[in-house]
Amino acid sequence: MKYKTQKIAYYFFAVCMLLLSLQIVYGFIMGFAHMGYDNLHSIIPFHTARATHTNLLVMWLLAGFMGAAYYIIPEETERELIYPQLAIVQLVALVVVGVTAIIGFHFNWWEGRKFLEIPRPLDYLVVVDVLLFIFLIGGTIWKGKRYSTTSIVLFFGLLTAALLYLPGMIPTTNQTMDSYWRWWVVHLWVEGVWELIMGAILSFLLIKLTGVDREIIEKWLYVIVGFTFLSGILGTGHHYYFIGTPRYWLMIGGFFSALEPLAFLGMAMYAIAMAKKGGRQHPNRLALTWTIGCAVMSFVGAGFLGFAHTLPQVNIYTHGTLVTAMHGHLAFWGAYAMLIFAMIAYAMPQLTGRKLFDNGWSIFAFWTSNIGMVAMTLAFAVAGVAQVYLERRMGLDFLQVQKEIEVHFLGLVLAASLFSLGIFAFIWIFIKYGLPKGKIENVSAAN
Ligand code: HEM
Ligand code: HEM
Ligand SMILES: [Fe+2]
Repeated sequence: MKYKTQKIAYYFFAVCMLLLSLQIVYGFIMGFAHMGYDNLHSIIPFHTARATHTNLLVMWLLAGFMGAAYYIIPEETERELIYPQLAIVQLVALVVVGVTAIIGFHFNWWEGRKFLEIPRPLDYLVVVDVLLFIFLIGGTIWKGKRYSTTSIVLFFGLLTAALLYLPGMIPTTNQTMDSYWRWWVVHLWVEGVWELIMGAILSFLLIKLTGVDREIIEKWLYVIVGFTFLSGILGTGHHYYFIGTPRYWLMIGGFFSALEPLAFLGMAMYAIAMAKKGGRQHPNRLALTWTIGCAVMSFVGAGFLGFAHTLPQVNIYTHGTLVTAMHGHLAFWGAYAMLIFAMIAYAMPQLTGRKLFDNGWSIFAFWTSNIGMVAMTLAFAVAGVAQVYLERRMGLDFLQVQKEIEVHFLGLVLAASLFSLGIFAFIWIFIKYGLPKGKIENVSAAN
């Protein structure tokens, strides 16, 4: 660790581990409910569990991106973070808002819009919190000694992610318009600007871990940004097929979203090529494993499984079924969860001075969580295909079909148990690393 303020990242990563654990608990509640054991229904009905599960996911991923930025930006700009104490205030405020939202869901205080369930008054607080974060990162870059492509792409990814939260707050009483704007947030995040954040974090990790020249790695970053914008923006149309929007979206959405896997393929090829090319062997092989794993699994989960249902001819059958959940799990895991795990695996030895990357538990955590997640994806796929066939082809009633496919959720719960074992091994190592060295208060805000 070169700069004292980088240790702020640790507290964000710790919050990630905590919220991920809670997310998994709600995953199991839903897994059992799908099996027919919905015993908690009176306290935590399915919709509450689902909103809690997905919002916790978004919250810990955002905390992870923020932690990664607080770690990367000082190093890339060659200076300490401005106003480090405010970064801690920003984290605490984020957690307070998030936890309030989650508690609110349990008392039916929510908006009922998938992924954007956070009640409106809290949305404003999220905006203020994220603006503070953008100010701290932007100000550090502004005052920095160096402007690197990596830090600029990371900054614009974060800034546009913040701005794209706003269309989700446009008031409307029209269901179609509401969906229309909702996708500006959900789609343009995960298949647009979050990819910039991902490309930049991968670039930082590859520069550190492979020893390949920054110029070469950052040149690839431009290519990825290009592919992302070319396909991802109009690719939003793959959510406008059947929601009451004009018919031209069938063509536009189908064509451009079919190109989206290219950006993920680019990232996978780039990570593998750089790892092969790298002459210098960084001792932290584990972080490189997570980095390459992220690039490859994001292609499988987002690129390949996304493509599987992106054409209107397929989507007309699979829309809103468990096929979507199949893709959602592996895409989020591969692209964004593994990215944060890679960052944590790289940063923790630097932050704490302890080298816990070369031990059995760390390797166990990587393989067990990944095999578990692939198995979960398969379980969702089997349930999803059965659902599509019975409900959309045979015309059976929704709830009748849910009863028929209960058995597949035994597979899901078993796979999820394996996955959780891997995650707990990762968290166990995280705890064993202990706290970062030194105190951030020693750094003056003016330097
Ligand atoms: C890391 C990137 C990605 C993530 C995290 C992700 C995640 C998700 C999630 C969570 C949903 C459900 C959203 C909702 O219903 O509110 C979804 C839907 C969808 N995704 Fe992705 N996705 C990614 C990339 C892609 C790509 C590259 C494609 C296409 C090539 C794609 C195609 C689709 C389609 C067509 C749907 C709509 C499914 C439906 O009609 O029910 N996704 N995605
Ligand atoms: C032990 C682990 C987990 C279990 C048992 C589990 C189970 C579930 C279940 C049953 C659903 C609801 C599907 C439905 O609507 O019927 C769901 C939704 C979802 N979960 Fe998980 N989950 C787990 C972990 C995760 C992880 C680690 C991630 C992300 C990396 C994740 C991402 C999602 C997403 C994005 C959705 C919404 C999918 C959609 O929009 O269709 N889950 N989960
Ligand atoms: Fe999309």
